[in-house]
Amino acid sequence: MFATKTERIIRPARNILGSLRLPGDKSISHRYALLSALASGTTKLTNFSTGADCTSSLACSAALGAKVSRLDNGMIEITGTSGNLQDPGAPLDCGNSGSTMRMLTGLLAATPHTYTLVGDESLSRRPMERVRKPISQMGADITLTDGHAPVTVRGGKLKGIDYTTPVPSAQVKTALLFAGLQAEGTTTVRESVRTRDHGELALRGFGAEVERTTNAVSIRGGQTLHAIEATVPGDISSAAFFLCAAALFLGSNLVFDALGLNPTRATLLDVLTSLGAHIGVLNLEEKNGELIGTVQVNAPARGLSGTTISGGLAAQLIDELPVIAAIAPYTQNGIRIRDAKELRVKESDRIALVASNLRAMGAEVEEFEDGLDVPGGQQLHGAEINSGGDHRIAMAFSVAALRATGETVIHGAEAASISFPEFYDLLDQIAER
Ligand code: S3P
Repeated sequence: MFATKTERIIRPARNILGSLRLPGDKSISHRYALLSALASGTTKLTNFSTGADCTSSLACSAALGAKVSRLDNGMIEITGTSGNLQDPGAPLDCGNSGSTMRMLTGLLAATPHTYTLVGDESLSRRPMERVRKPISQMGADITLTDGHAPVTVRGGKLKGIDYTTPVPSAQVKTALLFAGLQAEGTTTVRESVRTRDHGELALRGFGAEVERTTNAVSIRGGQTLHAIEATVPGDISSAAFFLCAAALFLGSNLVFDALGLNPTRATLLDVLTSLGAHIGVLNLEEKNGELIGTVQVNAPARGLSGTTISGGLAAQLIDELPVIAAIAPYTQNGIRIRDAKELRVKESDRIALVASNLRAMGAEVEEFEDGLDVPGGQQLHGAEINSGGDHRIAMAFSVAALRATGETVIHGAEAASISFPEFYDLLDQIAER
């Protein structure tokens, strides 16, 4: 967890208006940063994520022997190691980033060195057995400390496996595909819910053949990767905070250009539509397998209705659930979330923190092991919010604060910079007061 270093005061807004182009998607940026280290040639990335998490991935790639430069125009160039990842001679620091730690475990599993992966206090509490188990089955020697980081990876000769993920996780799937790329034979990952597919698409972008059926993905080992040139689409999970904010204000109008609209990530647009918001999608294009487009949102005249999010939907919306829950009191019929137990092992226990922060703002809320019931028709008041050092909690409650009475103080507000350092500035830009 972060020390509570900064506080932000969020005042209520009258409306949300504007047009934004957001920094690049965090999930895609991680994958490009890590794969470019394994590839041959120089990868050139425009609109790379500005979040601290992706900086951790880039720093790890550099420690593994890739040459990373940030050009004056913001472009990032990464010259890869052509499959010869180096021994950094020191622990690889994954910071707050679960994606970096889990995906690196797969990326390093075939390299004949011993690597130690460390993270901050929050990351050191998160479950790593989910990557240790299948990657050990492939032949690498991986040890954890009581199920957590530090993770020690002693790479070795890998054999492909056929593995069904017990909990849907794109990080685990991607880690297995990264290891499978370097294994003998074919690796197949099966999942009950199709999680975000950026790993598959990125591998294809870098030149690997990846086969897919509805809920399985396979990769043949021994393929080599080649550098790409790419523009990273705007991060839809960052846009989520502003999309939800705009959905709360009658007369709002917010437009996002060049937003990532990969169907495995865009479920929030369906949820907002089902709540009554007007969502328009224009100018759809595909780049490196990723969909990009313009999105416009307007609030419904009668306010947002209500809904239940459970089953596969909960897994697909996992990063958006905190902000959906934070705006739920302002809906007419409330929001019920189930099958989202994974929220308890994210950067914080997001179920507990959403519940306690909603209560601090005066809301009635019921907490379940795997979700929350937030009744609608509630007016919130400004309060002291504890982000718990979690970026998505800090941003979700900044959005809830826009419709509250009085001012809200977000403690640990700096956590937003893990995924979205520009968040507060852009919020001030689009919030009419
Ligand atoms: C991510 C997958 C999700 C998500 C995280 C990013 C990814 O985690 O919550 O923010 O980039 O693959 P899990 O794979 O643990 O569900």
